[in-house]
This record gives sequence, C-alpha cells and structure tokens, in this order.
Amino acid sequence: MRTTTALFILTLLHVIIPCTFAQTLSNSVLNLVRTRMNQSSTASWEAGTAAETVLELDFPQLSVFSSSYLSPFPPYSVADLQPILSIATDAVTQRSSSQLWGQDGSAGDPASLGVSVLLGNWTNAGNVDWVGAAEQQLNLLLTGTARATYGPAAGAISHRVGYVQLWSDFVYMVPPFLAYYGAITGNTSLIQDAYTQISLYRSALYSKDASLWRHVYCPDDTNFNDTGHWSTGNGWAAAGMLRVLATMKNSPYSSQFKDEQSDLSDWIADIHNGMTNNIPSSGIFFNYVDQQTTNSSSFPDASGTALFAATVYRHITLADPSDYEKIVGAAEKARQALYANGGGTHFDGNGWLMPVVNPDAFSTAGSESPEAQSFVLQMDNNWKAWTSAGSKDSAAGRRLAAVSVSAVGFVASVLMALLL
Ligand SMILES: *[C@@H]1O[C@H](CO)[C@@H](O)[C@H](O)[C@H]1NC(C)=O
Ligand SMILES: *[C@@H]1O[C@H](CO)[C@@H](O)[C@H](O)[C@H]1NC(C)=O
Ligand SMILES: *[C@@H]1O[C@H](CO)[C@@H](O)[C@H](O)[C@H]1NC(C)=O
Ligand SMILES: *[C@@H]1O[C@H](CO)[C@@H](O)[C@H](O)[C@H]1NC(C)=O
Ligand SMILES: *[C@@H]1O[C@H](CO)[C@@H](O)[C@H](O)[C@H]1NC(C)=O
Repeated sequence: MRTTTALFILTLLHVIIPCTFAQTLSNSVLNLVRTRMNQSSTASWEAGTAAETVLELDFPQLSVFSSSYLSPFPPYSVADLQPILSIATDAVTQRSSSQLWGQDGSAGDPASLGVSVLLGNWTNAGNVDWVGAAEQQLNLLLTGTARATYGPAAGAISHRVGYVQLWSDFVYMVPPFLAYYGAITGNTSLIQDAYTQISLYRSALYSKDASLWRHVYCPDDTNFNDTGHWSTGNGWAAAGMLRVLATMKNSPYSSQFKDEQSDLSDWIADIHNGMTNNIPSSGIFFNYVDQQTTNSSSFPDASGTALFAATVYRHITLADPSDYEKIVGAAEKARQALYANGGGTHFDGNGWLMPVVNPDAFSTAGSESPEAQSFVLQMDNNWKAWTSAGSKDSAAGRRLAAVSVSAVGFVASVLMALLL
C-alpha cells in the first residue's frame, strides 16, 4: 500500500515538474543567442542595445538597476569590462563629426552608446577620449539638433538629423543617456531633461484610446508619419522609461524626482495594459499590436514580444506597480510561447529568434534581427531576477507566498507543541 502511494506521488511529481520547468532556454541556446547578438549588432542602436544588455547581464552592479551603480569602487576590473569597453572604444574612435559610432541619419540612435562611453570614464579605462566624445554627443543633442517648434511636443529633440521627426525608439536611445550623464556628473537639470523629453514624446505619440504609443510623428509635411502601434516601439518606450526611472531611483537625487518616477511608472503600466489587452492566443504579438490580420505590414513578431516581457518583469522588480496580475499573465504567456520546446519552436539552429520584423524596415517581415537577440537576453535575465524575487503578481508567486505562510504556521505550531 505504501509503495503504491509513493509511486503515485512520484508519478505526480514527474508530471508536474516538467510542466512547470520545461519552458526555459538551456545555457547552450542562450550562448548561441548571445553569439549572434555580438556578431550582428553593427548599427549604432544595435551596438548600444547590445552593450546595455551585456552590462545588465554580466556587470549588474554598474547598471542603473543596481542601487550601487554610482559607487566609485565598482566590483569589476577594467579587464573584466572589456566586452563593454570594446564597443565603447569603437564608438569613440570611429565617431564622425559629433556622433558616436559614425555618421548616422538618426540623431538619437548613436546616443544609445553614450552610457558605455561614460562608463569608460567612470572606470578609468585607459587612454581613450571618453569625456570629449560624451560631451560632443551631449552637446549635439542639446544644441545641435532641431526640435519640434509647435504642437503638443514643442521642444522635443528630433530623432532624425535632416528634419524634425519623433520616433518612439528615441525613448530608449536618448533619455537614458541624459539621465545617466546627469547622475554621474551631479547635474540634475540633465536628469530633468530626460524626463521632459519622454513627456514631450509621449504627448506626441501616446494614444489614450488604445493605451499604446504610435510609432512616428512628423509635425510638418517634410516626411512620413507612422500612426500604427508598432510593437517594438512600445517596447522601446517602456524599456527607456524603465532605465530613466532606475537612474533616478538609485541616485542620491531620488527624493527630488519622486513625482517624475511615479509618472514614469504609470506611463510604463499604460503600455503594458495596452499590450496585454491585445495579446493573441499564440502569445506572440503582431508587429502592429492591434492589427491582428497577417498582411504585408503586420504579422506575428517575436522580437517586440520578447521586449514586452522583458519590461514587465523589470518593472515589477524595480517599482512594484499595482494591478499587475493580468499583465504578468500576458508576459508569462509570451515568454512561455517563445521558450516552447526549449527554444525549438522560436529559435533556429544558430540561435536566431524567429519570426521577427525587419529591424531596418519596421513594417516588413525580416529574418535575423540583432536587436531581437538583445531583447531575448534581457527578457531571460529579468525573468530570472523576478523569479528569484518570488514571482510577484503571478499565480505561482501567490501559491509560493501561501506555502511560505503555511510553512511559518506549521513551524510555529510545532514549536508551540514542544513548548506546551
Ligand atoms: C563582440 O565581442 C568582441 C569580443 O569580446 C568585442 O570585441 C566586440 O566589441 C563585441 N561586439 C558587440 C557588438 O558586442
Ligand atoms: C568622469 O569620471 C569622474 C570620476 O572618475 C567624474 O568625476 C566625472 O564627472 C566624469 N565625467 C563625465 C563627463 O562623466
Ligand atoms: C548641466 O549640464 C548642462 C548641459 O551640458 C549645462 O548647460 C549646465 O550648465 C550644467 N549645469 C551644471 C550645474 O553644471
Ligand atoms: C503627419 O501628421 C501631422 C499631424 O497630424 C500632419 O500635420 C502632417 O501633415 C502629417 N504628415 C504627413 C506626411 O502626412
Ligand atoms: C493590414 O491589416 C490591418 C488590419 O486589417 C490594416 O489596418 C492595415 O492597413 C493593413 N496593412 C496593409 C499594408 O495592408
């Protein structure tokens, strides 16, 4: 009889455990994803995003998500930091005019490398003109780039060089650099600028009805608008706001920027709600979140899907927002879909995520997206951190909390029994 019960329990565990844990990526898949990220991230924003990804994964105490990011004694040596510093060195040495990395039609994208360049100075990493290059990039943004002059976004720095155009992508490329520059040099007006730029971009791009951001707004007729709710663009906006929020929160100026942090957290939640309302049953978002008919511009896109999930886990561990159960459900659904078959469904044999939007042509399907590789690694890292912090706001997290409460109760009653 006891053998039958034991067998029954073992069988039960055998069924439950794989269901709970099979939806993960092995280290060998993750390593392939990372190798592809490293080899393919050649455009300015791709390299900037890859550098940020390496920072968050391998040197977390130097990333703004750590409460000790401004410590003058980082726990890593300059030699350790080479994977980031080599990207930063390229950004400085091959810069042209005042842009990091090289001539670019985008005013905003090269600034995505600014944080790694400032890290070069912060860690005293050798004989590179870190400060000169960072200052040039900052001044180009603040005084050498056209701004919107009228309308809701008057004052917003253009994301393009040749004409004024605002892209949701900008929120990941520029404000995190401004905020970090401000925090590291003790210049709070730069931290304020980071917030102001986000707020202006939001005035131009946020669509309240959908609770989503439009992609591109050009105030005059000089170029196109993209009024669609681009999936990756919503992710860029949420991910950029998270970095600015973290930069404020983990700095000595946190109390000075309390209201700004609270706005940023609300604005991130808006995006997460808008996306959650539109998650398809497959768990993979469409390229335009609410255009769920496959055609030439909208199709299932795993890249924006990964960035969405990455930002949900991060927001919870950073800012503990309220009413996140439904959003966590969507993030878990998205992540589990991406991790199906240990990656066998959504990754090819070389570690490329699929299917993905073309990173150079946002309304067409592509293959091999460098930024998507970064998004996967950020999602995995943020998901693991959220899990080890207790999977807050998930059904599993609630079960875990209940179990620990009953465990405390059990220990207490045993102690009582022994004492009495
Ligand atoms: C790829 O890795 C090599 C070796 O660490 C490094 O020099 C290079 O900067 C990396 N490039 C990117 C884009 O990550
Ligand atoms: C460069 O680093 C030093 C500390 O090593 C810091 O005091 C200074 O503000 C930094 N400059 C910039 C522009 O980041
Ligand atoms: C902060 O940075 C801005 C932009 O570089 C500069 O104009 C301003 O003088 C700085 N403020 C302080 C207090 O250093
Ligand atoms: C883009 O939208 C703005 C604001 O609605 C409008 O003024 C402008 O003409 C539009 N541009 C194009 C090319 O349609
Ligand atoms: C794709 O389908 C959506 C939803 O039906 C529609 O709004 C959009 O205009 C279509 N795009 C193209 C290029 O046909």
